Amino acid sequence: MKVKLGISLLVLVSVCFSIAESKCSKGCDLALASYYVMPETNLTFIAQVLQSNLNINPSTIVSYNKQTIANENSVQDGVKTSVPFPCDCINGQFLGHMFEYTVHSGVTYKTVAQEYYANLTTYQLLQQYNSYDPKDTNTNTNTKLNVMVTCSCGNSMVSKNYGLFITYPLRPEDTIESIASATSLSVALLEGYNPGKNFSQGSGVVYIPAKDQNDNYPPLVSSTSGLAAGVIAGIAVGAVAILLLLATCIYFGCYRKMKVEALLLFTASKGQHGRDPRPTMGSDAESTGPAGGPDKALGCIGITMHKSVEFSYEELATATNDFSMASKIGEGGFGAVYYAELRGKKAAIKKMDMQASKEFLAELKVLTSVHHLNLVCLIGYCIQGSLFLVYEYIENGNLKQHLRGTSGRDPLTWPTRIQIALDSARGLEYIHEHTIPVYIHRDIKSANILIDKNFHAKVADFGLAKLSKVVGVSSSTQVMGTFGYMPPEYAWGGDVSPKVDVYAFGVVLFELISAKEALLKAYDSTSEFQSLVALFKDVLNQPDPREALCKVVDPCLGGDYPLNSVWTVAQLAKACTQEDPQLRPSMRSIVVALMQDKPKL
Ligand SMILES: Nc1ncnc2c1ncn2[C@@H]1O[C@H](COP(=O)(O)OP(=O)(O)OP(=O)(O)O)[C@@H](O)[C@H]1O
Ligand SMILES: *[C@@H]1O[C@H](CO)[C@@H](O)[C@H](O)[C@H]1NC(C)=O
Ligand SMILES: *[C@@H]1O[C@H](CO)[C@@H](O)[C@H](O)[C@H]1NC(C)=O
Ligand SMILES: *[C@@H]1O[C@H](CO)[C@@H](O)[C@H](O)[C@H]1NC(C)=O
Repeated sequence: MKVKLGISLLVLVSVCFSIAESKCSKGCDLALASYYVMPETNLTFIAQVLQSNLNINPSTIVSYNKQTIANENSVQDGVKTSVPFPCDCINGQFLGHMFEYTVHSGVTYKTVAQEYYANLTTYQLLQQYNSYDPKDTNTNTNTKLNVMVTCSCGNSMVSKNYGLFITYPLRPEDTIESIASATSLSVALLEGYNPGKNFSQGSGVVYIPAKDQNDNYPPLVSSTSGLAAGVIAGIAVGAVAILLLLATCIYFGCYRKMKVEALLLFTASKGQHGRDPRPTMGSDAESTGPAGGPDKALGCIGITMHKSVEFSYEELATATNDFSMASKIGEGGFGAVYYAELRGKKAAIKKMDMQASKEFLAELKVLTSVHHLNLVCLIGYCIQGSLFLVYEYIENGNLKQHLRGTSGRDPLTWPTRIQIALDSARGLEYIHEHTIPVYIHRDIKSANILIDKNFHAKVADFGLAKLSKVVGVSSSTQVMGTFGYMPPEYAWGGDVSPKVDVYAFGVVLFELISAKEALLKAYDSTSEFQSLVALFKDVLNQPDPREALCKVVDPCLGGDYPLNSVWTVAQLAKACTQEDPQLRPSMRSIVVALMQDKPKL
C-alpha cells in the first residue's frame, strides 16, 4: 500500500514535470521578421519567401513599413523591412514559425539562409528540419524546404509593456548601444529579452520590442504573459504534488529516501537548459537563461531532458554484454532489440544494419526532440558500424503479446483495452497534427504498441518510415507497412496520407475486440488468408450484427464487457477501415470518440 501510494505520487510528480518541462504552451498571432533588402530584391520576392497564413503581399509589407517604404515598387537596398508572421509554439519547445519554400535545383542551404531568408534562419536549422542532400546541388527541381524562423511573444518578467517582437538578424555593424539608440529602448530592456546574447557578434538573431501598424507598442496580452500558462500550472501542481509526496513520506517514514528523489527531480528539470543543439530561442520561458547543469540526464518524460544523446559503441556494448543473446528482447523488421541499463536508466537498444548519412542524423535530431506521453521516446543514438537507436524501455511488452496471451499476464480487461486504444490514438494524433514536420507512422500494428507498467500504451517506431526513406532502403528490401494493416490505396502504391495510419489503427481496434490476428488463415479453401477487416465487415453486415459481434469478441474477456461499448468501438473501427481514405475519420476525431466512450464503462 505504502509503496503503491508512493509510486502513484511519483508518477503524478513526473507527469507534472513533463508539463513544467515544456517551454511554451502557446504562441501568439503576430511577430515580425526583419528582412534586410539586398540589391535586386523586391517586395514580391520577400512576400513569397515569408508567405504564411497571414497572406502576405507587397501592400501588407508596406503597411508595416510606412516610414521606410514609400511605394511597393521601389524599395531601396539596405532597408530593413518588417514582415508580419504568426509565432507558434513548436513541439512545446520554443517559439517559431515554419515557412515552406520551394527551391529549384542548384540552390544550397547557405543561399537559402543567407540570401533568400536574409539570415532569419540558419544553415543549421535548415539541416535540422530538412532531409535533402545539404551538399548543395539538389537535383530535384521542386523541393519543398522547411524554413524555421524563431520568434518571441514577450515576457512579463521583463516588461508587460511590450507584446510584439521583431526577429532581428544581427549585422556586423550592430552593437547593443546602436540598436538601443535606433529604437529608443534601453540597453537593459534589450538584454532582458535576450539574456546572454552578444549583440556585437555580427550574426544570429535577437528579439526586439516592435511597434504595430499604428506606430504603437502593443502591450503584452495576458494569455501569453510571463511563463506559458501551462508551465506555471505545471510548476504549481508539481509543487503541490511534491509537498503531498513529502507529507506522505514523512508519515510513512520514508522521508530521507524520497527527499533525495524529489531533489533529483528538481535538479534534473533545472539542468536541462543550455545544451540544446538548437540556437537559443527567444521564447517566453527561455528567461531561465543559459544556465544548465553539465550532467547528461537520460530519459524522456518527467525526469528528463530534450537533447539527443550520442552514445559511444563501447557504452552500448558494455551495457548489453556485447549484444549477447541474454540481453536480446525482440526482433523486428529492422533488426534486433536489446535491453540495457544506461546511466542508471532502463533502455531498449535497436540495432539496425544500415549506413547512416548526414541527412539521417538531421532527421534523428528532430525525432529525439519529439516528446509525448503516448510515444516511445527516442533518447539517443550511436553510429558506429551499424546504427543503434536508444529508446526508453517500456516494461510490459507489446499489445500483440497481451492479446495472444504470450505476455505471461492476465488478459486485458475491456476498460484497459479502451485506455490502450485512446493512448495510441493520442500518440498518433500528436504526430499527425502537432509535430513539425508532421509524421505518418506507416507501420501501426499491435506489435508496435507497447504497454507500460501502468498499462498505458505508447506508440513505438514512429518516424522510422521517414528514416528508412532518408537512408534509402529500397522498397524491395523493406516494405513499409505490414500486411493486414495496409489500406487498399497504400498496397496499390497510391497516396500516403495520415489516413494510412487511421486504417491500421482501425485494424488494431478490431484486434482489441477479437484478439484475432490482422490476417487470418481462412477456414474455407477458396482463399489462403482472410483479413480481419473483411471478417468484421461480414460480421457487421449480418441481419443481427450485435449478436454476430458477440460471437467474435475475445473469449478471454469471459463475457465481462459492456456490449454497447464494444459496439461503438466496432463501428469506429469500421469507419477507420473504409476503402475511401477521405471517408475515414481523423485521429483527432477518433480521440474524441474514444474519450466519449470511456466514461460509459
Ligand atoms: N522501447 C522498448 N521497450 C521495450 N521493448 C521494446 C522496445 N522497443 C521494442 N521492444 C520489443 O522488441 C520487439 C521488436 O521491436 P521492433 O520494433 O524492432 O519490431 P516490430 O515492431 O515487431 O517489427 P517492425 O520492426 O517491423 O516494426 C517489440 O515487439 C517489443 O516487444
Ligand atoms: C521581383 O523579383 C523577382 C525575383 O527576383 C523577379 O522575378 C520579379 O520580376 C521582380 N519583380 C519586379 C516587379 O521587379
Ligand atoms: C547574412 O550573413 C552573411 C554572413 O554573415 C552575410 O554575408 C550576408 O550578407 C547576410 N545577408 C543579409 C541579407 O544580410
Ligand atoms: C562579442 O562578440 C564580439 C565579436 O565576435 C567580440 O569581439 C566581443 O568580445 C564579444 N563580447 C563578449 C562580451 O563576449
